[in-house]
Amino acid sequence: MSGEPRETPASASLRVLRHDVVDSTNECAHAALEAGEARDGDVHVARGQTRGRGRLGRRWESPPGEGLYVSLVHLPPPPGPHAPAVTMAAGLALLDLLLGLGVERARLDWPNDVVAGGAKLAGVLVESRGFVPERPHFVIGVGLNVRQSSFPEELLSARAVTSLHLLGIQTEPERLVTPLAERLLDRLRMASDRSEELCADYLEATGLGGVEVLASSAQGTIRGRLEGLELARGLCFRVPTGAPRWIELAHVRSIERARSL
Ligand code: BTN
Repeated sequence: MSGEPRETPASASLRVLRHDVVDSTNECAHAALEAGEARDGDVHVARGQTRGRGRLGRRWESPPGEGLYVSLVHLPPPPGPHAPAVTMAAGLALLDLLLGLGVERARLDWPNDVVAGGAKLAGVLVESRGFVPERPHFVIGVGLNVRQSSFPEELLSARAVTSLHLLGIQTEPERLVTPLAERLLDRLRMASDRSEELCADYLEATGLGGVEVLASSAQGTIRGRLEGLELARGLCFRVPTGAPRWIELAHVRSIERARSL
């Protein structure tokens, strides 16, 4: 990170900290946590990132002024929500924002990429460093492609990617900061108080409830109908032998719609 952030109170519980170009807004949030300066509801926003991080060690392309790069600090009272609930809440908040902006055919791709018409529009990276049961903490990083009219070839060769601009929605990253942060707070409250509702909304947002899927975990890949989702037990599948199979959320690597046999 670089320079002193500019601070603006956004609402009672949000404090927006604006940076210019930083390595990663998640890193800004971790640095503030380590320095003992972080507050619950801090929102680190940068105009650009030089080392934007994606899931699974990938890079997040973060050209200045083109995308929304935000990290929210969540410091819930102990014991805090399950980590997968925070991830689901973040994906749903992002989807809430995008559906509200009029993005059509948007849905969540496991675990929380937002895709529109099959192309990736946004992603979420939730991180915690060190587990202290009395002081749970989460850094919720969100990247959203806003104004890009093209993407680097290396990115496109890995998968289809899109932006709000390419979907016909013209806006500025800055205008989305507070709306996104407010939706994050709403969904994080839901993760703490109404996790069954959160799970139901999440399953619906993936479009995979009741669908025949291939789910891969460290134990291998199973094919079955996805029938339910609970934080404690994970995902429930009906497999051809008829018996329900549960896979813990933390163990699921990928889920995709199965092709018909
Ligand atoms: C993914 O889809 O792989 C997750 C992408 C998350 C990117 C955001 S941009 C803001 C925050 N800072 C980072 O370095 N990463 C997240």
